Amino acid sequence: MQLAQIKFNTFESISDEDCQQRIITAKNKLGKNLVILGHHYQHESVYRHADYTGDSLKLSRVVESLDAKYIVFLGVHFMAEVANILSRPDQLTILPDLAAGCSMADMANLSKVERSYRELSKVLSFDEVVTPVTYINSAADLKAFCGEHGGIVCTSTNATKIIEWSFKQRAKVLFFPDQNLGRWSGHKMGIPLDEMPVWDPDLPLGGLTEAEIKKAKIFLWKGHCAVHQMFRLQNIERFRQEHPDGKVISHPECPFEVCAHSDYVGSTEYILKTVTESPKGTKWLVGTELNLVNRLANQMKAEDKLVQFMSHVICECSTMARIDPQHLAWCLENIVNNEPVNIIKVPEDEAKLAKLTLDRMLQVS
Ligand code: 13P
Ligand code: SF4
Repeated sequence: MQLAQIKFNTFESISDEDCQQRIITAKNKLGKNLVILGHHYQHESVYRHADYTGDSLKLSRVVESLDAKYIVFLGVHFMAEVANILSRPDQLTILPDLAAGCSMADMANLSKVERSYRELSKVLSFDEVVTPVTYINSAADLKAFCGEHGGIVCTSTNATKIIEWSFKQRAKVLFFPDQNLGRWSGHKMGIPLDEMPVWDPDLPLGGLTEAEIKKAKIFLWKGHCAVHQMFRLQNIERFRQEHPDGKVISHPECPFEVCAHSDYVGSTEYILKTVTESPKGTKWLVGTELNLVNRLANQMKAEDKLVQFMSHVICECSTMARIDPQHLAWCLENIVNNEPVNIIKVPEDEAKLAKLTLDRMLQVS
């Protein structure tokens, strides 16, 4: 039976505790019709309800194996878009709060990418053309752009492999929107920093000279993650002074010097695995979002491991944090009422091209 849609304002005043109970009740009612996916940056109050947790790559792979009619994504908008693109047409992807975006993803848009690509093509000769590579943290229309122009998507796990693949197609890469991931991945491949200039899409020719464009191997879009940008080399130096036997692990969205002075660099899933599998009593400084680090620190206490956050200021992803128990309970109860809300649906033509690049990525990685 179809009932009227429940408005979110009726959930605003419900306590976290009551929402927890309502989430469990709705999950039980929906049974196999529902799957909840949770990114590692989600707050514990909703993360605990996820059937699958992971980084962007792992969650993309999971989607393809799901049978449930409803896929509720505890994460940000681009992740729900990917889930929609990779799922079957009869499945519905739901993002509990539509305002959960990614500020880094918003640093690139289709008109700027199209203009940049056109400008580069004018300067470069036929055999120097550019492969567009978009980080998965980007809108679906940018993934579609890559699909249309022989490009590809990457995640923080596979960026190096994907750039290697891209160089097999063409001589140069336009990497957007995260300059830090692009720079770190290129550096790991042995590309000198002066062959990876920053491309500022708001300036003519990206702010580069024709000579700089000809010399470049990777054009790094002027974009970054505001959360990871907060981590500093000084945080690492202080930790190493206090704990000379400690280890430092960072996400590749961190500034270059932070990655370069870390013992390990990798995706959120890699960070969790590396710290979890380390010997008892190990000490860690972790450069990634606060919710992940707090959860890990709590879990590792039992093994006498010290897990320290890399910054003294709070670096929480405020958009990830928009998914709270109230929004989750609200959208689950609307599904129970057969009135699903916040459905993420990428337009068909865009989804087709975006799927091409995502499939390409899943094959290459
Ligand atoms: P992961 O793919 O490593 O989980 O990263 C996603 C993200 O948004 C990091 O800021
Ligand atoms: Fe986007 Fe940064 Fe938040 Fe990741 S941590 S979702 S890159 S704003």
